[in-house]
Amino acid sequence: MSKVFSAHAVSVDGYITGLGPGPGRGLGDGTMLFDWYFNGDTPSQVFDGFRLSGPSAPVFDALAARVGAVVAGRDTYEHSDRFGGGGPHPTARLFVLSHRPAPEITERQTFITTGIEDAIAAAREAADGKDVGLMGGGVATEALKAGLVDEVILHQVPVLLGGGRPFFQALPEHVRLRLVQAVPAPGVTHLHYEVDC
Ligand SMILES: NC(=O)c1ccc[n+]([C@@H]2O[C@H](COP(=O)([O-])OP(=O)(O)OC[C@H]3O[C@@H](n4cnc5c(N)ncnc54)[C@H](OP(=O)(O)O)[C@@H]3O)[C@@H](O)[C@H]2O)c1
Repeated sequence: MSKVFSAHAVSVDGYITGLGPGPGRGLGDGTMLFDWYFNGDTPSQVFDGFRLSGPSAPVFDALAARVGAVVAGRDTYEHSDRFGGGGPHPTARLFVLSHRPAPEITERQTFITTGIEDAIAAAREAADGKDVGLMGGGVATEALKAGLVDEVILHQVPVLLGGGRPFFQALPEHVRLRLVQAVPAPGVTHLHYEVDC
């Protein structure tokens, strides 16, 4: 059975964007959350143009190689300028979770308006045995609430942004995590948790 995981670059105070994210503005004033993609001399084997530090590269590429499909929230989709008609991953198909009708989309993108369970089921099918990546704090929270997340990865960046879109949102009950890997790297610490069932 393929796994479902969420991997986000997060500030120490838990934000996945800075202030003022939006279409044409990306992460707002939180662009430093992605600095570690380019702060080294090891090219990613999966993402063209990414040059990571020695410790970050294997962590990043191992996760990227697992992804067969992505479920992104509508806000992530819009703030990423609809991924230019493609997706956030070079090969994975994109599923966008929204309550609202789809805008014009391309054949690489699918809108799901019937809830997180349907989005993850469709993504699993498209992933064809590979794993499903979640993008967006809202989507990750919905999936956690539904008990559909196997792993939570925080690429924790040493900054207190003080505001922005939070990764951590209200949950109806505790979700216990088990730390399986912690990798300190230049500009980021990779924290890999499994959801304890
Ligand atoms: N730092 C990182 O690594 C990272 C990674 C990913 C994204 N981001 C950033 O995070 C921001 C977006 O995150 P976010 O948490 O604010 O939003 P999000 O999770 O991307 O999107 C939330 C939206 O998704 C739709 N949605 C969520 N649950 C749904 C459900 N059960 N049924 C139907 N629709 C549902 C709703 O859209 P509607 O009601 O409007 O249809 C909701 O407003 C963006 O700026 C993005 O660039 C950062």
